[in-house]
Amino acid sequence: MKTDIARRKFMGKLAAVLGYAGLSPLQLSAQGRTRQGSAAAASTPDPKKVDYDKLIKLANNENPYGPPEGVMKAMNDAWKYGNRYAAPDGGLVDAIAEHHHVKPENVLIGCGSSEILKIVDDAFLPDHKLVVGVDPTYETVYRFATNSKAKAIAIPLTKTYDANMKEIIRVTKLNARDVGVVYICNPNNPTGRIVPKDEIKLLLDSIPGDIPVFIDEAYHHFVDDPNYEPSVKYVIEGRKVIIARTFSKIAALAGMRLGYAIAPKEIIDQLRSFVMTYNTNAIVKFGGVASLKDTANEAKTKQLNKQIRDRVTNELKAMGYEVIPSQANFFMVNVKKDVTAVGEEFLKKGFIVGRKFPPMNEWLRVSVGTDEEMKGFMKAFKELFPVQPPAQTKAGD
Ligand SMILES: Cc1ncc(COP(=O)(O)O)c(C=O)c1O
Repeated sequence: MKTDIARRKFMGKLAAVLGYAGLSPLQLSAQGRTRQGSAAAASTPDPKKVDYDKLIKLANNENPYGPPEGVMKAMNDAWKYGNRYAAPDGGLVDAIAEHHHVKPENVLIGCGSSEILKIVDDAFLPDHKLVVGVDPTYETVYRFATNSKAKAIAIPLTKTYDANMKEIIRVTKLNARDVGVVYICNPNNPTGRIVPKDEIKLLLDSIPGDIPVFIDEAYHHFVDDPNYEPSVKYVIEGRKVIIARTFSKIAALAGMRLGYAIAPKEIIDQLRSFVMTYNTNAIVKFGGVASLKDTANEAKTKQLNKQIRDRVTNELKAMGYEVIPSQANFFMVNVKKDVTAVGEEFLKKGFIVGRKFPPMNEWLRVSVGTDEEMKGFMKAFKELFPVQPPAQTKAGD
């Protein structure tokens, strides 16, 4: 009993230090676990119960067109290296370094960017350290943090569903001694909102320079807002910035597992000790190199995504549903019902849609599929949801 009271007092004090009224670090950690549980359940239905191949997959923000011919050829030609661990690798690290105008020493390859997320946690979030980020976001970083007994301070989005940068800065400074890393997903998953370039700069200029800022740019290729800019330039400036990139989204290689980090050499060296030995397969390295060169396919995918996303979201808005303006290959629509139940309804109609992202429990995240898939989605949506009185979208673009 005594211990309990003492513990509560301690947690109360700690919550106050964290600067977040009402949300103790323990609650935040528990939230992280719940979210991951539902994530796995919602985005991968039991293949024994459904014909997975026949489902229209609008749940994981994948590229619905598949890898282009040139990339598949490069991968097919690489089968012969299947007996080798590391080399030849198609010159992947050099190709990535060249692509970003950095040195090979600034690049670290991961088994998807998930591995990068994991090792950043391993390196910078030991027991009792803090990760500061927004809520909701791509919660994997918070989950990994929970595993290592670090804690998340997840700051609610603003009324326009944007990152509250002033608050991120305030909370980071307040807890500067304990913050292991600041996580910024840009554009943010699940909202598709960007953090504008001046806010990234403000963040980096405002917090102590020795706190690493981890910027996850998984969806960077889809953005066309001029207020956005990729943050590799800060690595080149020598700031303590880690960028995560992936070949899973626009490059259509999600199932092949390839991602990477760009960071100052000292950070890459620190991260390197946490990566799995021989963490990528022989085939995808060649696919990655070919993909970096295929700018035409990238531009085509970006354009198609925007065209289809804008058409579908306009249609939903015309039906009276609030949609968050997105800069990514997914969007959120307010269905005014619990998303888990809505997901089950869509599943019965042959569509897998996005999981729930608490606290946005009534906002459905929909990945942008092909033209045909999205026509099917709209048909299903109209069957499930009535026309609403027009709603005002709050976000400002
Ligand atoms: C923001 C974000 N980061 C990282 C990942 C992990 O992707 P991967 O491991 O396939 O590179 C995802 C996957 O959906 C994501 O949405």
